[in-house]
Amino acid sequence: MELPASAENFTTMGKAKAYLGDAFQEVFGPSGEKVHFFFSPGRANLIGEHTDYNGGLALPFAIQLGTFGAARAREDDRLRFCSLSFPDLQVIESRIGNLSYKKKDGWANYPKGVVWAYAKKGMEAPRGMDLLIAGTLPIGAGLSSSASLEVLTGLALQSLFGFPISKVQTALLAQETENGFCGAHTGIMDPFACLMGEEGHAILLQSSSLKYEQVPVHVDGCRLILTDTRVKHSLASSAYNDRRKTCEDALSYLERGAREPLKFLCDLSPEEFEKRKIAIPDEDCREKAAHVIRENARTRQAAEALKKGDLERFGQLLYASHESLRDLFEVSCPELDFLVDKSQKMPYVLGSRMMGGGFGGCTITLLKEGREEKYRQEMRRGFTGRFGREPAFYQVEITDGAREI
Ligand code: GLA
Repeated sequence: MELPASAENFTTMGKAKAYLGDAFQEVFGPSGEKVHFFFSPGRANLIGEHTDYNGGLALPFAIQLGTFGAARAREDDRLRFCSLSFPDLQVIESRIGNLSYKKKDGWANYPKGVVWAYAKKGMEAPRGMDLLIAGTLPIGAGLSSSASLEVLTGLALQSLFGFPISKVQTALLAQETENGFCGAHTGIMDPFACLMGEEGHAILLQSSSLKYEQVPVHVDGCRLILTDTRVKHSLASSAYNDRRKTCEDALSYLERGAREPLKFLCDLSPEEFEKRKIAIPDEDCREKAAHVIRENARTRQAAEALKKGDLERFGQLLYASHESLRDLFEVSCPELDFLVDKSQKMPYVLGSRMMGGGFGGCTITLLKEGREEKYRQEMRRGFTGRFGREPAFYQVEITDGAREI
């Protein structure tokens, strides 16, 4: 068989399962235990960036690109992980009782961290596990390949060992893996979207309560497209943690002298914030908070525009979000700005913005149907002229969330 995997092997769930099943036997060998199969999507986000860890709204959805996995329980306490996306097919090993983050383990820190997070919550794996994964998600493109893998590992543990937990708890444990094991202080949006995704719908997520509403994405006459800068900033994770800290500082300034306790920045409306922002002495911190609070309001407006089918308005909100992420929250980069600036000059584009944590990754763009090829050509030409390399494009299909297949 062809190893490592190619995209061709994953065009349908049936093909993926057959391919993974064969590869699993080849990598881990036979055993009397049943092999279980899973799919966990990546995520995109229409709007609502850096709001999730501030108790605000986001509007993400699950995409057709994602992580496939095959898992089987073992007799002993060993955990063995292998990915078909890397040519060396290295098997990375750990033991259930001895899990810690190790740089050399690379991607395998995510599944290791999930086993650790479940154990911390009283769900220690009673036996080891072999896990083979393969992904169609570009890694480091800001489409949540890590959350996708964490959610998949969680589903595998649940299925193999019978841990009866809800989807919301599954998302929280994926977040705990990032925060407590991998040291990235990310919010809940990514694993939540991987799990709750529903075909044709975006999830209007209220992060403070984890309540959500499925909003149909009717973009009649238009299309959504992701454009990948292929920029992966090594400092993205530390800059993300910095932004989060700045938001916490802003909250504690705003709380001082306030009559009512303030739990999250997004508990303030933009108007209330205007009245109270003087409490934040540092201008940079004030601007970061302003982004968060206005982005929260924009997300509510964008969901309304989408429900009404007002795509012009929706597109304007995407541009406004980008401007704020660039100028106030300062998480954009020249490549993302270039893509958004250029799309603003294309009459058939309704809106565009950087997506995810920032400092690289993709933009999400709403454009008139039938103009996708023209967009790709113009963008490719312009981007290559400026940066000397091509961007990548992914068409968007809004799919169901993670599941056993
Ligand atoms: C990353 C994090 C999310 C969210 C976004 C920004 O994707 O994982 O929790 O904070 O950045 O909106």
